[in-house]
Order: sequence, then C-alpha cells, then structure tokens
Amino acid sequence: MRTDPLAYLTTELDALRAQGLFRSLRVLDDRQESTTKFDGRKVVNLSSNNYLGLTTHPRLIERAIKAIEEFGVGSASVRSIAGTMALHLELERRLAVFKKTEAVVVFQSGFTANAGTVSSILTKDDVVISDDLNHASIIDGCRLSRATIKVFPHKDVNAAHRVLQALPANQRKLLITDGVFSMDGDLGPLPALCGLAEEFGCIMMVDDAHASGVFGKNGRGTVDHFDMHGRVDIQVGTLSKAFGALGGYVAGSRALIDFLYHRARPFLFSTSHPPSVTATCLGALDILEQEPEIIDRLWDNTRFFKAGLADLGYRTGVSESPITPVITGDGALAMRLSDRLFAEGVFAQGIAFPTVARDKARVRTIVTAAHTKDELQFALDAFKKVGHELGLI
Ligand SMILES: Cc1ncc(COP(=O)(O)O)c(C=O)c1O
Repeated sequence: MRTDPLAYLTTELDALRAQGLFRSLRVLDDRQESTTKFDGRKVVNLSSNNYLGLTTHPRLIERAIKAIEEFGVGSASVRSIAGTMALHLELERRLAVFKKTEAVVVFQSGFTANAGTVSSILTKDDVVISDDLNHASIIDGCRLSRATIKVFPHKDVNAAHRVLQALPANQRKLLITDGVFSMDGDLGPLPALCGLAEEFGCIMMVDDAHASGVFGKNGRGTVDHFDMHGRVDIQVGTLSKAFGALGGYVAGSRALIDFLYHRARPFLFSTSHPPSVTATCLGALDILEQEPEIIDRLWDNTRFFKAGLADLGYRTGVSESPITPVITGDGALAMRLSDRLFAEGVFAQGIAFPTVARDKARVRTIVTAAHTKDELQFALDAFKKVGHELGLI
C-alpha cells in the first residue's frame, strides 16, 4: 500500500491540537453585521473589518445588483487582455482623485496589491528595509522579488537609520511600513520614515489596508492623517475592509501605475473584479465623500470601547485605531478567552502563533461604526465576567 506522503501534515495538526491551538473555522450564518449569527449563535461581532458597516449598506447592494443586471456576474479575463471594463477605469480614476495621486491601479485584493507591487518593482540587486511586523503580503512580495530583506525592529526608526547608513549611496532601496499594524492597531512612524527615505533616497511605501476609510479626511489614509502628501511614492489601500467589498489598490505616479499595468503579476495573470464588486467600491467612495460622519461614529465607538476595556484592567497594548488587542500572552489562554466570550454571546477571535509571536497571543477586537453603545456595553459586560473567571483581570 502506498504510504501517505502528506502524513507529516497530520503530525503537525496533532501537535496543534495538543497545544490547544487547533481551530475550526467559525461559520457566518447571516450578514456581516454588528450583531449576527456565527455557528448558529447570535453574537455581538467584534471580529470583522467592516469598519463602516458598509457590507450591507442598501445603496451598495443596489449598485451591485444594477451592475450585475447591466454587465453580468464576471469579467472572464485578466485586465491586460479582455477584462478591463469602463467601471474598472472609473474606479481607478476616482480613487486617484480621492488619494490625491496621479494614478491608481486596482488589484483583486490588498494582498495581491502588496505582493504584486513589491515583487515587480524590485530585483535581486535591490534592498528592502521592512518593519518587523509588516503584513504577510509585504513579506511575501519581498521574498518573491528576491531582493535582500533587512528587517528593523517594530517602529524602530533609529534601527532603520542604521541599516540605511550601512548601504552604499547608489543602492536602490525600498523603505516599507504598514500604516496601521493589523494585530496591534498602532500606527507606523510615517513622518520619521519619510524623513529617512528622503535623506537616503529610498522609495517610500505604506500599506494602508487598515487605514483606508478609517484615518485621514474622508478616510484617505495615514498619508493624509500625517499630512505626508507628495512624500510617499507608493500607497496601498484595501477595498475589502472599510469599503465593504473586495480589492486592493496602489496609488502613486502615472509611471508607477503604467509599470504595474505591464509587470505586476496578479494584474497580468489573474482575472479582474466582477462588475458588481467594482460598482460597490464606487458606491463606497460616494459614501466616504458624502457622509464622513460615519467615520466620526466609528471613532466615537472606538473611544467608548477602549475606555471600557481599560477600566476593566485588561492589557490592551499600544493601539491607536479601532483595532484593540486583549493580550493574554499564552496562545491556549487566548483561545479559551475567545471561546468563553463566544458562549456569552460575543465573537472576538483568538489569535496566536504564527499570526503573532508565541508569547503575544491575544483576542483581537475591532469595533465598527455600526455597533450601538448597547452592543458594545454587552460585550464589555461579557469581558468583565469571563476576565474574572479566567483570572485575567
Ligand atoms: C495590513 C494588511 N495589509 C494587507 C491586507 C490584505 O488586504 P485584503 O484583505 O484586501 O487582501 C490585510 C488584510 O488582511 C492587512 O491587514
């Protein structure tokens, strides 16, 4: 009989089970809303990236349906062959105006925007200087580029400075940071990094996935928040989180975007968005431009919830955004906290290694503009009960 060549995977999974880290996927049985049903249970939802509650916005649903009726359900081609529709170009034009850059290219996801961009603009002769906690899509892009990767400790501008000083002046180099770090909710030190990029002649790139629709005027991102317009060469944003749909984009110079049209592999080798997704993103842009009070609501909820967790005495790290980690340290304890909260009617996902360091496991919470204060208070009451029970507070 043939022995299973994948048996080692089962061994690894058994090890995860033994450590209490094996997870079954929670199944969303209803809409992605502030209170919804997962695994058949009604819960206050603190686990989505639906920052502005747009996943179910009636105007966006209407736009998506209209686009399907008009253009069908798929584009059936990559952008560079037959998959570019007028809607795709309209979204890119509108996003460029929104981001105050010359041009924008939209990708299938934020992940492909990061990985496709970094891997296509760098070669094995180049160097990338990257924050230790940058997103996996940046790390994968760096690896695919075959450039030399120099990682600096999280937000340590002096360490990045030392790396840059040691490189030859004529070395091509990319300095890259997340705008908002997805697991801790803190902001990248963009002004200081832009200063370094200018001093050492680096390409400066920021991944604003969690800042899109959240930071800056009308949700333009951290470049707008820190007033760094014109000082960041490449801005990545996502359409999958606050925008409520799916996709990622790169904003920058016309030359950068034309280059990505010709060289970025997800653009060249993977089918473009269905028209419904593109129309939804255009609708989301309208809402950001016309109803910025929705972002004020997000921040009001963020302040309320963070203050509540702090009053309870939880370790919540250094967050400056609607992402608030509740740090347990131990992975199994994070999963236990998450499971107990779920039983009490609150969904806050436990996150452990390899998503975060082994000793930095946590339950990650994300509030949205759509949460009511009653929902948030309900969640805080559950955190209080379960925190006492597990000896966390
Ligand atoms: C920091 C960061 N960058 C990029 C991405 C990828 O975005 P998307 O979900 O649109 O692929 C994510 C999302 O998980 C993220 O957290």
